Amino acid sequence: MATVYSQSLPRQIETARMPGHWLLAKLGKCVLRPGGIELTRVMLRALEVCSDDEVVEFAPGLGLTAQEVLRSNPRAYTAVERDENAAARLARRLGPGRVIHASAECTGLPARCASAVYGEAMLSMQTPEQKLRIVQEARRLLRPGGRYAIHELCAVPDFLPQETMREMQRRMSLNIHVGVRLLTARNWKALLEQCGFRIEFEAKAPMHLLEPKRVVRDEGAARTLRIVWNVLRDRQARSRVLQMRALFRDYRDHLQAIALVARKA
Ligand SMILES: C[S@@+](CC[C@H](N)C(=O)[O-])C[C@H]1O[C@@H](n2cnc3c(N)ncnc32)[C@H](O)[C@@H]1O
Repeated sequence: MATVYSQSLPRQIETARMPGHWLLAKLGKCVLRPGGIELTRVMLRALEVCSDDEVVEFAPGLGLTAQEVLRSNPRAYTAVERDENAAARLARRLGPGRVIHASAECTGLPARCASAVYGEAMLSMQTPEQKLRIVQEARRLLRPGGRYAIHELCAVPDFLPQETMREMQRRMSLNIHVGVRLLTARNWKALLEQCGFRIEFEAKAPMHLLEPKRVVRDEGAARTLRIVWNVLRDRQARSRVLQMRALFRDYRDHLQAIALVARKA
């Protein structure tokens, strides 16, 4: 990721402005979702991808979940990634015809081409209108009875005061350099139901993306050592990572990860 994303700006400026997930990717982090690999696996078990499935993944990023899903040998797998460099990199890894460079709001794929659609850590960064368009696009792609899974940030509790929610969003957007729009579990379920899905499965996990134990579990010992080395070598990146972690710790009582699996009604 580092070479792909460090081409156009001087390194210091780029590190200061880079969206948090690409900064972490540049430092060697591959798992970029709030509930880590464990919540991904819980979500995938509930999604039950098998060899009969035609799968579409929204926003694969570095493609770690793609690798897990491809182990189930689905009949087809298509990734839809908005970032051109990430899409090109993943296309090289997964082979021709499997990656589309497009927004999940409007994939260009034919209606009812999929039996399972999923996306992780991508809806939380969209405006309410974009979220709606993406969930509607998932519905359009799915055949009747098809499954849609998400793994996202989740504000807690369900009736969190609006003022606290707004302050969290403001601080997170400034800190991560991505417009974060949080939803509670109740809001996420309402969004999916509004778009014609029936919720079948729900699981939550702590938002421990940058906690040492979670990093080791998600990345393994060798990659964790590389990340630590990269963080130690780059003062500006280190300061941003520590600020992000401090913010997540500040909001530990109000921030979790959620996975939902829903069926097209
Ligand atoms: C936080 S990363 C998550 C990557 C990966 N899903 C994971 O969990 O490790 C967010 C990803 O969403 C992609 N993305 C954001 N909005 C998108 C959209 N509208 N359509 C497709 N991809 C999008 C970004 O380019 C990036 O790859």
